[in-house]
Amino acid sequence: MASLALNGGNPVRTKEFPGWPIFDESEIRALEEVVRSGKWFAPGGTKVKEFEQRFAGFQDAKYGIAVCNGTIALEMALLALGVGAGDEVIIPAYTFVATATAVLRCNAIPIPVDIDPDTYLIDPEAVRKAVTDKTRAIIPVHLSGLPVDMDRINDIAEKHGLKVVEDAAQAWGAGWKGKGVGALGNLGGFSFQMSKNLTAGEGGMILTNDKELADLCRAVADCGRLPGKPRYDCHILGVNARLTEFQGAVLHAQLDRYPDLLARREASAQALAAMLEEQGQLTPIQRPREATGHAYHFMMLKYDAEKFDGIPKSRFLEALNAEGITSVHGGYGKTVYEHPVLADRKVGARGCPLSCPFYGKEIDYTKIHCPVAEKAIREEAIWVKQNVLLAGPEEMGDIVEAVGKIHEHRAELLK
Ligand SMILES: Cc1ncc(COP(=O)(O)O)c(C=O)c1O
Repeated sequence: MASLALNGGNPVRTKEFPGWPIFDESEIRALEEVVRSGKWFAPGGTKVKEFEQRFAGFQDAKYGIAVCNGTIALEMALLALGVGAGDEVIIPAYTFVATATAVLRCNAIPIPVDIDPDTYLIDPEAVRKAVTDKTRAIIPVHLSGLPVDMDRINDIAEKHGLKVVEDAAQAWGAGWKGKGVGALGNLGGFSFQMSKNLTAGEGGMILTNDKELADLCRAVADCGRLPGKPRYDCHILGVNARLTEFQGAVLHAQLDRYPDLLARREASAQALAAMLEEQGQLTPIQRPREATGHAYHFMMLKYDAEKFDGIPKSRFLEALNAEGITSVHGGYGKTVYEHPVLADRKVGARGCPLSCPFYGKEIDYTKIHCPVAEKAIREEAIWVKQNVLLAGPEEMGDIVEAVGKIHEHRAELLK
């Protein structure tokens, strides 16, 4: 008789993991207050302005500029730094595609580099090797909420006169050496999209410690307006990327709850990591000592098919999900350079920015290979989503039990 739930056996877990998003009357009251106030957009209200200051403070930054999503946050940050036609921007090969498309939308060239096999984050040594005379900026991505080694990235940037835009879309509450991420480089971008640990359905934030850059980002994200100038004058090229007061109100309520949820995810992740390490079948991704805060948008684990007699990651995950360990999956299915937008150069009518006289050279993304990222995606990386961690440390044993069960009965998956 089969033991694995995938083959008709009893699953290890029958209880659902917590759902997402989490909300209560405070979000509803906050929204009602905005509706009744009649002040629905940020220029006329207080919610967004106050949230900008609150969130900047939460991340140890001086200035916050709320925008409509995380992609636009990166795009506005790059524009404010003057990134444009012919510039190369170094990004990790393993990230959400918006890290690359934000660069393209500024008419610049994303240069993907490989990741560190222990952390799955951008490899500073690969960054150093990718610097050319065209390089203008680096985008370290704090993937999953685990901070990149910002000391090494900032060192490289300083040495070569480059700008640093942190992609902190998944990193609310993450910290490097005790300091919040987001303004450890020149600028950083966060996302408050629906799946995110801090959400208003959509939304984003740029952080910085530089007043001039903060003013520039605000102008770019507010139709090119400048403070103190007539409202209908447009001084620089910008867009309307403003967050609404509804979103600002919801984000206040979400941030009130956030420290408790962050602590709960942390406790679960630590418990799960300790149990998995003892069991020796799945390896938790390393967290450097300097990574003092981890947002755990997901917890990354490494699967080694050899320990499971060659069963591929996808099959292992099917078995794990069938055991009731849902919200655990294989993460991104492609490196950034494998997306058609880059591989097939689906960038615009005239091929700009990839074919551009300012660039003066051609890039063929089908020729780029980042072996560590490719292996992570195809064979190794497993993501335990943040809502699973919200079940609390006492429930993480179910995951370990399911992994152990699959290992014990792995022969059933080989048939
Ligand atoms: C790493 C990363 N960068 C950028 C983004 C873009 O954020 P948004 O979806 O808010 O545009 C996301 C979110 O999906 C992300 O996870």
